[in-house]
Amino acid sequence: MTELVLPQHTNAIGTAFGGVIMSWIDICSSIAAKRHCGHVSVTARVDALEFKAPIKVGDVVRLTARLNAAFKTSMEIGVRVEREHAETGDRALCADARTTFVNIGDDGKPCPVPPLLAETDEDRRLAAEAVHRRKRRLAAKGSS
Ligand SMILES: CC(C)(COP(=O)(O)OP(=O)(O)OC[C@H]1O[C@@H](n2cnc3c(N)ncnc32)[C@H](O)[C@@H]1OP(=O)(O)O)[C@@H](O)C(=O)NCCC(=O)NCCS
Repeated sequence: MTELVLPQHTNAIGTAFGGVIMSWIDICSSIAAKRHCGHVSVTARVDALEFKAPIKVGDVVRLTARLNAAFKTSMEIGVRVEREHAETGDRALCADARTTFVNIGDDGKPCPVPPLLAETDEDRRLAAEAVHRRKRRLAAKGSS
């Protein structure tokens, strides 16, 4: 997903407002979830959101989402936010996050997510890490 940072997206010092970037992360994740499931999905969770470098007014921003793992009715999505240098096309990582989306059926309830095919070692690593995070989250929930 590509966006242009306009004055209405900025804070008092002329850099992109965090809430706008968060909204773009949500939209980009939602598109990835919808492409995978063919259905509407809702945001259940946002984790590990980190703003690593400022993005200035006039910058082109590129967001990339990928499904890390598909569970029963939910999926973990990783999003990278990069600033694109207008003249050179060079990209720099400015923010990243992980989101969890839940696939919603026609009855308005969570419904199964199609399996995710892991094709590369990187795919398998990302999926295994997501499974581990989910186990930790569920264990923490169970003990609270
Ligand atoms: C997300 C939501 C649909 C889950 O519904 P629910 O009745 O709690 O459903 P379940 O308990 O059966 O959970 C369904 C799945 O969501 C996951 N889930 C629910 N809450 C979660 C959370 N806070 N973090 C991560 N995953 C979560 C569960 O682990 C489960 O995953 P699985 O099927 O892959 O094992 C519901 O909480 C909701 O509608 N929340 C509001 C969503 C919203 O308005 N988002 C903003 C606008 S898009």
